[in-house]
Amino acid sequence: TSPVRLALLGCGTVGSDVVRLLHEQSVDLAARIGAPLEIAGIAVRRVGRDRGDLPVDPALFTTDPLGLIKRDDVDVVVEMVGGIEPARSWLVEALRAGKSVVTANKALLAEDGATLHDAAAEGGADLYYEASVAGAIPLLRPLRESLHGDRINRVTGIVNGTTNFILSAMDATGAGFAEALEEATELGYAEADPTADVEGFDAAAKAAILASLAFHTRVTAADVHREGITEVTAADVASAKAMGCTIKLLCIAARGTDGRGETVSVRVHPAMIPLSHPLASVGDAFNAVFVEAEAAGQLMFYGRGAGGAPTASAVLGDVVAVARNRLAGVHAASESAYADLAVRPMGEA
Ligand code: NDP
Ligand code: HSE
Repeated sequence: TSPVRLALLGCGTVGSDVVRLLHEQSVDLAARIGAPLEIAGIAVRRVGRDRGDLPVDPALFTTDPLGLIKRDDVDVVVEMVGGIEPARSWLVEALRAGKSVVTANKALLAEDGATLHDAAAEGGADLYYEASVAGAIPLLRPLRESLHGDRINRVTGIVNGTTNFILSAMDATGAGFAEALEEATELGYAEADPTADVEGFDAAAKAAILASLAFHTRVTAADVHREGITEVTAADVASAKAMGCTIKLLCIAARGTDGRGETVSVRVHPAMIPLSHPLASVGDAFNAVFVEAEAAGQLMFYGRGAGGAPTASAVLGDVVAVARNRLAGVHAASESAYADLAVRPMGEA
């Protein structure tokens, strides 16, 4: 069988682990898919950057993402760069040309997911983004597929690994904010600009993606009430502890009504939670998400929410799914169909 050819965009914390796993698991992945996966090229900012002993042919690196995407021998585009532009233009180009896209880019999905979903519908292509929320935890596929027969009422969770790492370190060892952030950055948890983590933008983007899928509507980052952890002091953490509590950055998305119909309210803010609560024991860069559904009741998803290898696991799961679809000549339904549903983000006219 001919190989499924991948254009990798980005080879940083996440991308380099994707390259490593593609190499280490090539035989198993080929058996699972029914065809080998091959890297057609890897777009980066600096071709000459030292990438250690990454098991890849250096001739595959390019600084021309668009040229790589447009190549006839590229079937699937895997975006691990981040940011709104030029990532949006690259992915729209790929999707409209019928090339499947796997992306870890929550900022883009939360800012303008509609454009990507519309392009996927237009090109008859797959758009998968499991890695964009909660790292390794299988969460979006359950929301997109397994729970589609149910009615979800509320989603609550810890969805940012960096801030959870910082708050956990402040609580456990009395570490300072700056010191804990530096460690989270060294471990590959933080965004290229960690302001996105500590000011709650990253969690707000993830909350928007979760709410869109859970409530079959379009929630963007701008619809999310957002508060980060930069105002949380060592004294706040100590007083929470003295009261038998701990401080966590929570994301909460819930159904409601405002007199004109159904709404969804989405917010991200630090909250004091009792130590007896299951979310209190979620430490390090782990994430946990509770889903409350009408028939299923309470579900809890827990695991590593950030870091190269956990995120690469989610990316590769999506690569396997879209490669299989490609070989079968099918693609998943696009979420652009949700746009006409009645649930509105709270405050929207
Ligand atoms: P990094 O900053 O480590 O890597 C970014 C990569 O993109 C680098 O390889 C860089 O090239 C390349 N790049 C940057 N700008 C361009 C450009 N204009 N053209 C081509 N290549 C470019 O980021 P991460 O790996 O941490 O994150 C990647 C994506 O995954 C982001 O969307 C992030 O939000 C998301 N994500 C990250 C997680 C994590 O734990 N780190 C978890 C879940 C999602 P070069 O190598 O030459 O610098
Ligand atoms: N910066 C993000 C976090 C990466 O800390 O959760 C995972 O999405």
